[in-house]
Amino acid sequence: MYGAIISGTGSYLPEKILTNHDLEKIVETSDEWIKTRTGISERRIAGNGIITSDMAAAAAQQAMLTAGVSADKVDLIVLATVTPDMVFPATACIVQHKIGARAAAFDVNAACSGFVYALSVAEQYIKAGSAKNVLVIGAETYSTILDWTDRNTCVLFGDGAGAVLLTQSTDKSRGIISSRLYTDGSMSETICVPGGGAKYPCSLESIEKRLHYMKMKGNETFKVAVRSLTESAQTILQENNYTTADLDLFIPHQANSRIIQSVANYLSLPEEKLFCNIDKYGNTSAASIPIALDEAVAAGRLKPGNLLLVSAFGGGLTWGASLIRW
Ligand code: UT7
Repeated sequence: MYGAIISGTGSYLPEKILTNHDLEKIVETSDEWIKTRTGISERRIAGNGIITSDMAAAAAQQAMLTAGVSADKVDLIVLATVTPDMVFPATACIVQHKIGARAAAFDVNAACSGFVYALSVAEQYIKAGSAKNVLVIGAETYSTILDWTDRNTCVLFGDGAGAVLLTQSTDKSRGIISSRLYTDGSMSETICVPGGGAKYPCSLESIEKRLHYMKMKGNETFKVAVRSLTESAQTILQENNYTTADLDLFIPHQANSRIIQSVANYLSLPEEKLFCNIDKYGNTSAASIPIALDEAVAAGRLKPGNLLLVSAFGGGLTWGASLIRW
């Protein structure tokens, strides 16, 4: 068994900013409602021909640069997304070509939990000695699956990408300590895009029924999110003989500041141990944790030896956590 350390981080946020006030002109909503119910002030929108693989490639290149590892040294690319460039091939394959790598590449679909799922896949390859450098990317062009007539969902999400390079190390005192993944398929239709797959292939009817847009039962999701994020954090800490008092930083999936605050309260985590950037980007789904991680690193919020917990929740339903010694 080897250690699996995060040797580099990167992120890409499109330039175009869509504020709550802009949204007031599109749907029946208000800056006040969005801010108080979600913590979001603005989000980024790709547009201008920028798609998931472009943002993923930019974030990946930055992660490789900060790690000092060139593309030819990358053995595997695992990309988490629910907004791939195309139904197939996997967006990871397109990214491989864009960054000039030769690595095997595939996508992971675990919605907003995608990055934690992808990270745990990479962790297994590295720890088992099957790969030395794995690019783990979360990238979403969520604006392309939002129903811009549905105020329940369109105000919540944004576009962007984040990436880490996971590197094999003989030093087992650092890196990913363990990961925990959970799924409850009985709630698969709580958050979904029903159209465009085998169940409802693209047709005039599917378009008329707006089945190609993301649907979410927000209120039901909220309660499960708080419970799952709290329980998975407690479990992974307990299993590794830690308590929340040992944590230096907690980076939760950025879906709603009220979810984040409730989880922090249940875990008795003080504000300074919590990372929150939802006000600037909204919910960027699989990209939310790696973007936040890259910002946390840039802000000097992580020092060598710190104990970091990342934890996510999303469609599937899926959720999971990863405990990392920085
Ligand atoms: O990342 C994947 C996982 N996703 C999540 O974890 C999301 C979890 N859910 C949430 O974050 C929240 O449930 C939402 C932000 C989606 C909604 O907040 P809420 O406090 O649960 O509101 P609600 O759905 O109970 O709606 C309350 C009211 C409703 O009006 P009535 O029926 O009480 O008259 C909605 O129609 O707020 C209304 N509403 C809005 N009003 C203004 C819903 N969206 C909007 C809006 N602007 N954008």
